[in-house]
Amino acid sequence: MNKISWQSPSNIALIKYWGKTGDQIPTNPSISFTLEKSFTETTLIYEKTDKKKGISVDFLFDGESKPDFEKRLVNYLNRISEYIPAMQGLQLKIESRNSFPHSSGIASSASSYSALALCLVSMEEKLMGTPFTTDAFYQKASLLARLGSGSAARSVYSGCNLWGKTPGIVESSQLYSIPINHQVHSDFLNYKDAILLVSKSTKKVSSSAGHQLMDKHPFAEAKFKESFKNTEKMLSILKTGDAMEFANLVEAEALSLHAMMMTSNPAFLLMEPHTLAIIRKIGNFRHETGIPACFTLDAGANVHLLYPSYAIEQIQTFIKKTLMPYCFNYQWIDDQFGNGPVQQTV
Ligand code: DP6
Repeated sequence: MNKISWQSPSNIALIKYWGKTGDQIPTNPSISFTLEKSFTETTLIYEKTDKKKGISVDFLFDGESKPDFEKRLVNYLNRISEYIPAMQGLQLKIESRNSFPHSSGIASSASSYSALALCLVSMEEKLMGTPFTTDAFYQKASLLARLGSGSAARSVYSGCNLWGKTPGIVESSQLYSIPINHQVHSDFLNYKDAILLVSKSTKKVSSSAGHQLMDKHPFAEAKFKESFKNTEKMLSILKTGDAMEFANLVEAEALSLHAMMMTSNPAFLLMEPHTLAIIRKIGNFRHETGIPACFTLDAGANVHLLYPSYAIEQIQTFIKKTLMPYCFNYQWIDDQFGNGPVQQTV
């Protein structure tokens, strides 16, 4: 049966990717944790036809066709066919679904492109009849995922990932992410992420447009320099396991991402009043309890509350009593740092 299926999670960046050149080449390294429950499941069915016919795609999301996304997909597949020459002349049927609610404001490009890239590399293995080594398999999946959406490069591995050439880390690359769990204190590997859904509206600015705003941003150079420094600092914190230092740096990174958007031209203010209310409450909670919970943000209004799993009871009470009233329809997702993508039996 020419059918392959992968489930791949989204990821949350601690050090943010914001700014790129060329073919999704990041202007600074980024560090993330792969999540567990927020995932995309993608099934790929392929059939050989005439090579001259190129690549044709039928795409279904939640069982429904999505012509806009289908066009993007055809572009993407043609772009990456130089890495999988055997793809020319294939007829593909791709079906996807997300575990998280549609238009919840959660970035799905990371999970969707990583799930698709994993399916494509599995397909290449089957077409060629020779398996890749495990390292080569995931490296290629990360590279192909990056070409769909930069942050997707970091979703093919479990736990903690580093993407972007980083001084002192020889294996690091601009082209794919590398897993760095062996350099991470075990306390962090069990962290939890409560995703507090503040706004369900679609993004005010697409990530691609957002990255472009950095091209002429007056503070871009300083920001990129700072991101390199923050990457170095974060790598050291991850090793030592200093949870308070972790909290301070994660929050500083999130705020400086939003500061870039607020000071770009045009400017974007993506936080909502409830975003601010939540991040203030998280700061107060940390101060009062000494529990090193912290927030981070993507390019939107939702808040990720990161916390050590030992504090689960206090945090969940805090969420239910204090934070849930600020969430859209009281919705939040009880996620955690996870084990990475899983191939499904079909
Ligand atoms: C703010 O990966 O969505 O979430 O490469 O254009 O698809 P494209 O952008 P994308 O950018 C994500 C930006 C971010 C920070 C991060 O995840 O590092």
